[in-house]
Amino acid sequence: MLLFTGKGGVGKTTAAAGSAIRAGRSGLRTLVVSTDAAHSLADAFDQAIGPEPTAVDDQVWVQQVDTQRRFERSWADLQGYLLSVLDASGVDPIAAEELTVLPGADEVLALLEVRDQVATGEWDVVIVDCAPTAETLRLLALPEALSWYVERVFPVERRVIKALRPMLARAAGVPMPHDSVFDAVERLHGDLGQVRDLLTGPDASVRLVLTPESVVVAEARRAFTTLSLYGYRVDGVVANRIFPAAEADPWRDQWVAAQQEVLAEVERSFAPLPIWRSAYRAHEPVGSAELATFGAELYGHHHPLEWPPAPSTARRGPAGSDANVLTMPLPGTTADDVELSRSGPVIHVTIGPYRRSLPLPAHLRGRTATDARVLNGQLEVEFSG
Ligand SMILES: Nc1ncnc2c1ncn2[C@@H]1O[C@H](COP(=O)(O)OP(=O)(O)O)[C@@H](O)[C@H]1O
Ligand SMILES: [Mg+2]
Repeated sequence: MLLFTGKGGVGKTTAAAGSAIRAGRSGLRTLVVSTDAAHSLADAFDQAIGPEPTAVDDQVWVQQVDTQRRFERSWADLQGYLLSVLDASGVDPIAAEELTVLPGADEVLALLEVRDQVATGEWDVVIVDCAPTAETLRLLALPEALSWYVERVFPVERRVIKALRPMLARAAGVPMPHDSVFDAVERLHGDLGQVRDLLTGPDASVRLVLTPESVVVAEARRAFTTLSLYGYRVDGVVANRIFPAAEADPWRDQWVAAQQEVLAEVERSFAPLPIWRSAYRAHEPVGSAELATFGAELYGHHHPLEWPPAPSTARRGPAGSDANVLTMPLPGTTADDVELSRSGPVIHVTIGPYRRSLPLPAHLRGRTATDARVLNGQLEVEFSG
């Protein structure tokens, strides 16, 4: 699975579509799905696309997820319950409807569809054209943080509520959740966990799309750090819309010079990741033929699925010692950026506004963290033997 993300308008959809055509023409059965509510894949391929995979090129299919239909299948019970609680609390029905539209829900629903498509085993490659800023990928860390609660506390609470439902309902004045609501929460938890496992697994990686402008690059660098924090592997960078230097007038000359400077910075920031480059064209790369050219320019004679091997997320300490070390790649950070805390079996790693709560692997749970450092973009937490 390849996920394309980056700031709005930098060329995510174009890069996803170009990579898909390239993968398809190398003989791989390829599906492209957009999780961005703006359905721009149809515009990029210049073809009508339905809610089921639609063939657009040799070995390439595109799907526009019908999130409404998915919603009804997945979350309708939960929404019904939230609405009844808000109703009982005196919130007016129209405001209540709005309150229960979860931010990012559309994207998560599209990712559920992606999971189902992967499960069919029909595809060699699934390419995901993500919404800007990768906010949803961060959202997917939620099940991990909630897993302790859902797996241990939730079943108990469910039994208690079942027994006390009539009394509680009278006392609290709000409807108590029925079994179908608990079922929905558990299903949602399971669904999100599966999507996350898939996207952070060994067969998935994220490609950051950027244009060579300092503001765009700064955001891509932050995305690189936080995606790593949440366990996603970034395997390369697409630098799009690079001004060609030939025959430039003074205005373009200045842009060429500025972009070259930023590109050098990109090389430094993302090393050793590959930087795939694409020129700013005189027209929009729309339609299969244009997208094929775009993909060919991007990857040259390389295969679009080449990537460096996955770094492991946790490893044992140095051979011969009994120290255990938990490691996590955190590119682009120093020790000053990272805050660590612990509550029992869960370790919290915080960078600015982002926090990952990570249940410790079983062999580290009873131990004390004795030291921590950030070395060459990698966090290492040492535990007592
Ligand atoms: N290298 C390029 N040269 C010229 N136009 C491009 C290039 N890459 C993308 N575009 C155009 O820029 C616009 C935004 O690209 P798009 O892929 O939709 O960005 P995103 O998905 O990141 O919002 C589209 O009109 C697209 O055709
Ligand atoms: Mg797009």
